[in-house]
Formats: sequence, C-alpha cells, structure tokens
Amino acid sequence: MANESNKPVYPGNSIMVRPDGPLICKADNDITLQDADEKVILKDKEFALCRCGLSANKPFCDGAHKKEAVSASQSFTDERAEDISDINGELIITVKKNAMYSIKGPVTIFSRDGLSKTTRTKAALCRCGHSENKPFCDVKHKKCGFIG
Ligand code: FES
Repeated sequence: MANESNKPVYPGNSIMVRPDGPLICKADNDITLQDADEKVILKDKEFALCRCGLSANKPFCDGAHKKEAVSASQSFTDERAEDISDINGELIITVKKNAMYSIKGPVTIFSRDGLSKTTRTKAALCRCGHSENKPFCDVKHKKCGFIG
C-alpha cells in the first residue's frame, strides 16, 4: 500500500525502518513504551525510536544519526514472518536494559521504500546500531558493550 508520495502506509500497528535513521512507530490506538521493569515511559500513537545507539535521549531519536552520518540499511528479509489477520491489537514495546527493543503485539514492520515488509506478534529490534541483521537484534549489543 502506498500514498501519493510513494511512502508506504500500512493500517493498524506499524514500525517503519527509516534508512540510516530511526524506527517510526505508529498505531491507531496508543502504543505502550515501557522500560525493562514495565514502568511506562510513554503511551502514544506515534514516536521515533533510536536504532543507531547514539541518541542522547534514548530510547527516542534525537537526530544524532545525521550528525554522525550513520549508515543503517532499511532493507531486510524475515524468515519468521507470521500471518496476522488483525493488526490492531495492543502493541507493547519494552526497552531492554543495554539491549534490544522487545516488541509484543501484532505489527507490520516495513522499510521506508516499501520493498521490505513483515508481520509479527513478537520481535526483537536492534537499538545498539551494531546488529548485522537490522532491524532485528542479533545479540551484538553484548559484544559491543552497549549501554542504554
Ligand atoms: S540491540 Fe543491537 S544487536 Fe541487540
């Protein structure tokens, strides 16, 4: 699905992977963003999460990827895609300490150019910037000693 500017738009819960930039989380109902202790950080219908690991305002994007000329592909493939009929259920994103975003709930994850897309009810997304399988976490946050 694409609108007139060719920007893909999917109904319900979605996470757009911007090239070299953040994860844009969007939903018709509030998404819960919480810390590892399940303390709510924010409930909102749209926000941008850092995926380069450089933001001074983690977990949110503060534009640091531009200053640091981050290179992070938007393209991906997903062997764990699930067939989901209702993409509107509760979406909870947990910011794991020094690690990934843990996603729970139905969501479409897609690239800004619309060429990559998957649907999931569970996912671990990289926020350290070092995964070789972006946007997914491949546990490189441990090797790189990510703090955040
Ligand atoms: S958070 Fe980046 S590899 Fe896990």
